[in-house]
Amino acid sequence: MKLFSFQSAAALAFAAQSVNVAEAKNGFDVFKYVDPLIGTSNGGHVFPGATLPFGMAKAVADINDPDEKEGGFASGDSDITGFSHMHDSGTGGAPSLGNFPLFPQSGCPGDDINNCFFTKTDRASQRMNNTVEAHPGYFAITLNTSIHTEMTVSNHTALYRLTFPKNAVNAQNVTLPNSPLILFDLTDLPDSRINGSMAVDGKTGRITGSGTFNPSFGLGTYDLHFCADFSGAKIRDTGVFTNNRGGSNPKSVKIVPNGNSPPVPAGAWTQFEQSPNDQILVRVGVSFMSPDQACHNAEKEVPDFGFNKLLKSAEDVWREKLSVIEVDATGVSDELQTVFWSGTYRAMISPQDYTGENPLWKSDEPYYDSYYCIWDSFRSIHPLITLLDPHSQTLMVRSLIDVYRHEGKLPDCRMSLCKGFTQGGSNADVVLADSFLKNITDDVDWATGYEAVVSDAEDEPLDWSVEGRGGLTSWKTLGYIPTDDFDPYGGGPFTRSISRTVEYAYNDFCIAEMAKGLGNMADAEKYLQRSDNWKNMYKADQTSFVSNTTDYPNSTVDSGFVGFLQPRYLNGTFGFQDPSLCSPLYNFTSCYLNADGHETYEGSSWMYTFYVPQDMATIVTTLGGPSKFVERLSYLHTSGLLYIGDEQAFLPVFQFHYGARPALSAYFSHFYIPSQFNTSTSGIAGNDDSGAMGSFTTLSMMGLWPVPGQDVYLITPPYFPEVSVTNGKTGKKATVRNIGFDPSYEAIYIQSATLNGKPYTKSWITHSFWLEGGVLELTLGKNESSWGTADADLPPSSSTSWSSS
Ligand SMILES: *[C@@H]1O[C@H](CO)[C@@H](O)[C@H](O)[C@H]1NC(C)=O
Ligand SMILES: *[C@@H]1O[C@H](CO)[C@@H](O)[C@H](O)[C@H]1NC(C)=O
Ligand SMILES: *[C@@H]1O[C@H](CO)[C@@H](O)[C@H](O)[C@H]1NC(C)=O
Ligand SMILES: *[C@@H]1O[C@H](CO)[C@@H](O)[C@H](O)[C@H]1NC(C)=O
Ligand SMILES: *[C@@H]1O[C@H](CO)[C@@H](O)[C@H](O)[C@H]1NC(C)=O
Ligand SMILES: *[C@@H]1O[C@H](CO)[C@@H](O)[C@H](O)[C@H]1NC(C)=O
Ligand SMILES: *[C@@H]1O[C@H](CO)[C@@H](O)[C@H](O)[C@H]1NC(C)=O
Ligand SMILES: *[C@@H]1O[C@H](CO)[C@@H](O)[C@H](O)[C@H]1NC(C)=O
Ligand SMILES: *[C@@H]1O[C@H](CO)[C@@H](O)[C@H](O)[C@H]1NC(C)=O
Ligand SMILES: *[C@@H]1O[C@H](CO)[C@@H](O)[C@H](O)[C@H]1NC(C)=O
Ligand SMILES: *[C@@H]1O[C@H](CO)[C@@H](O)[C@H](O)[C@H]1NC(C)=O
Ligand SMILES: *[C@@H]1O[C@H](CO)[C@@H](O)[C@H](O)[C@H]1NC(C)=O
Repeated sequence: MKLFSFQSAAALAFAAQSVNVAEAKNGFDVFKYVDPLIGTSNGGHVFPGATLPFGMAKAVADINDPDEKEGGFASGDSDITGFSHMHDSGTGGAPSLGNFPLFPQSGCPGDDINNCFFTKTDRASQRMNNTVEAHPGYFAITLNTSIHTEMTVSNHTALYRLTFPKNAVNAQNVTLPNSPLILFDLTDLPDSRINGSMAVDGKTGRITGSGTFNPSFGLGTYDLHFCADFSGAKIRDTGVFTNNRGGSNPKSVKIVPNGNSPPVPAGAWTQFEQSPNDQILVRVGVSFMSPDQACHNAEKEVPDFGFNKLLKSAEDVWREKLSVIEVDATGVSDELQTVFWSGTYRAMISPQDYTGENPLWKSDEPYYDSYYCIWDSFRSIHPLITLLDPHSQTLMVRSLIDVYRHEGKLPDCRMSLCKGFTQGGSNADVVLADSFLKNITDDVDWATGYEAVVSDAEDEPLDWSVEGRGGLTSWKTLGYIPTDDFDPYGGGPFTRSISRTVEYAYNDFCIAEMAKGLGNMADAEKYLQRSDNWKNMYKADQTSFVSNTTDYPNSTVDSGFVGFLQPRYLNGTFGFQDPSLCSPLYNFTSCYLNADGHETYEGSSWMYTFYVPQDMATIVTTLGGPSKFVERLSYLHTSGLLYIGDEQAFLPVFQFHYGARPALSAYFSHFYIPSQFNTSTSGIAGNDDSGAMGSFTTLSMMGLWPVPGQDVYLITPPYFPEVSVTNGKTGKKATVRNIGFDPSYEAIYIQSATLNGKPYTKSWITHSFWLEGGVLELTLGKNESSWGTADADLPPSSSTSWSSS
């Protein structure tokens, strides 16, 4: 138990004055249940700072712990090195963005500029414990220097309110002159800056700058610019710094790469007279176009430095975004409600709207970025955005198609205007098909969209590590990606032959659906056939021994299941990869992108053998029929073979529907929530990947799990008595209601259902439910029933329900 120091109590008092979150509507305040700090420790890498939905400006305090600083800030007690204006959330790779951090000091000891701290290392400061405060649109924290920092944002501008202590002392208890200094550093979170410049205006104190940086999970470089203005105190002096020395002259600094030496710390500073109310506001505009545009963005969006006003408008935008969902939460714990709403919030942080900020090409189309990465987001983030905010999803789809128009391929991952690394298939195909099937139509050029997905399937790029697919010649002639592929047509990591094969197969199925919808039946049949290619890597007699860590730590026991996807060579013979390799039971982390030579990506063949979303009917038969299939899928979940913290694990939670056991999908949804998803700062199972974990909890708890890339939602009971979504396009409200809701979640099995009053026996429903509105009523019981188990009621599979008309 720690006592508050004098300063931190004072800081808490500031915070209490400044934030007015209780803007309840009908007594329900959704912000009560949004905790942006979930996922800010233990590798969640969540960005907990101030942002608008899909906004470009994302302000937060940046820390210096290399394992935790990916999203800028993390809970814990690592030191804070600054406050920066753009971030990505939940990344699994390197820290991203965090450019041009500012850092405030109350004064320089002895009033000598060179006694202030300039470099990241020198200025790193502890936080005051228990001073973090995070709400949608707002973040605050107090440094150990007693400077209280608050931040809010508009689309391209961060606004900071810094409150300085009246009688600051430094660590040696030396009283500091009350003459605040605020510096901007020409750096970013990953320390990737190559070159750049910064200048300060001696009269106004305005600081502008530009830098060239590397993207965090991709190729090339990007240029970013900023423009900072101050309000609240008289300018006293200005200057620049390099390394740990500062001076009033010159007023600008330019940095180029210096041989092999590490990037030189450099930047600019503005120093102030004592502020009359001890507050200084710092407005920071950002732009990928130019410093001028950064200034223009800031002047336009935040003309008056009104912090409370800007905060209010950010809060309003979030309340409105979240208001499309209504829940009756009677009996539901605050904990679960917080998991639900916080996850929903996190799923709307990215991709980021950089429309008007793309220097790469001129276009009237929207431009979104930070698809980080589509391999993660196609599975549930985009389906959730489609459901809650179809307009934004429409803009994103148009933007993806525009990337194809100007760069020749759809991205699989994209950040900071650069091509990011492809992890498996060309999964933008799934995003496009999903939207195509769900009436995402307004101003979408679907002819070009179709051309883009066909390009993925037909034309191998020279560098398929960042776009498209590799091995297309083998794909077309042999029907799989050989483990020892001969591919002189392009280059990329020649690994992951199993997972690429199943992902390419599903990508082709998605193309077939679009072809069918566009009336191109010849293409539809062609890609439908290719979607069967997964069969070519299935080795029917493959057994699997798994380590049984719980009881017999190092022994292996026969799982009893036979038939797994296996490596396969050009000559048609099979190789061997232990089916449990890269599951949590065996060399869990050996299948990352840079790991050599494994044939499944971030998961085991055990898991990938279930990845046939286009034709579950055939995989059910292949694995021995419904009961053996269900037994195997249950084993995947209960044996420790599956890690729910990676997105591929989401769909298998609900695939029991295909084995005619929808009750088990409900059971396993509750198996993971809340045990792996809770409201602690370490309350998500893996890194969040731009909100993927959040979208998993939201969609699971809403009860209708979308099979991405298909017009199919698998029905399980919501975790609430009732949940409704008002469609942003049609204005219609769709409600899923539980009859006999049981807050202890023992009665989670559907006994019967009605849709708009009529009996409904199918275990799945289409997007038209959400578009047209209506009421789906589920009667629950404690025992499994026969509801949704008849052959005719199973969700569709290509081998059983594909019709050519
Ligand atoms: C703040 O924390 C930093 C990093 O631990 C430390 O070096 C510095 O002395 C502290 N400053 C004060 C005023 O306590
Ligand atoms: C905050 O708490 C941690 C331990 O939880 C402690 O190490 C650290 O010194 C505290 N920081 C301050 C500024 O008191
Ligand atoms: C911010 O951007 C969104 C689109 O991402 C737009 O709808 C909204 O109007 C913008 N807000 C302001 C204040 O310009
Ligand atoms: C700091 O100095 C003040 C007076 O200058 C003194 O009252 C106080 O006890 C000192 N604090 C510490 C921690 O030494
Ligand atoms: C960095 O140098 C490159 C190559 O000279 C140049 O194109 C780029 O504009 C420079 N970046 C900045 C921010 O000045
Ligand atoms: C799909 O969108 C179109 C155009 O916005 C609209 O006319 C149509 O009613 C929508 N379809 C459904 C099923 O809502
Ligand atoms: C481990 O193996 C033993 C012996 O075969 C078995 O009794 C036990 O149930 C297994 N435990 C798990 C977690 O599979
Ligand atoms: C299991 O293997 C590990 C690593 O080889 C070893 O450290 C550990 O002692 C073994 N445990 C048992 C129970 O044999
Ligand atoms: C097929 O190719 C693999 C990999 O090069 C090789 O190990 C295997 O012996 C070959 N099989 C036959 C039957 O040639
Ligand atoms: C499993 O990991 C160990 C230790 O890193 C390594 O030596 C071994 O080669 C790995 N096995 C496989 C099949 O990758
Ligand atoms: C909260 O979630 C984390 C991440 O999945 C998990 O490790 C932890 O055990 C959970 N905590 C509780 C109390 O369930
Ligand atoms: C539910 O199943 C249990 C255990 O199989 C059984 O004892 C009970 O009678 C069943 N309840 C109903 C309502 O069928």
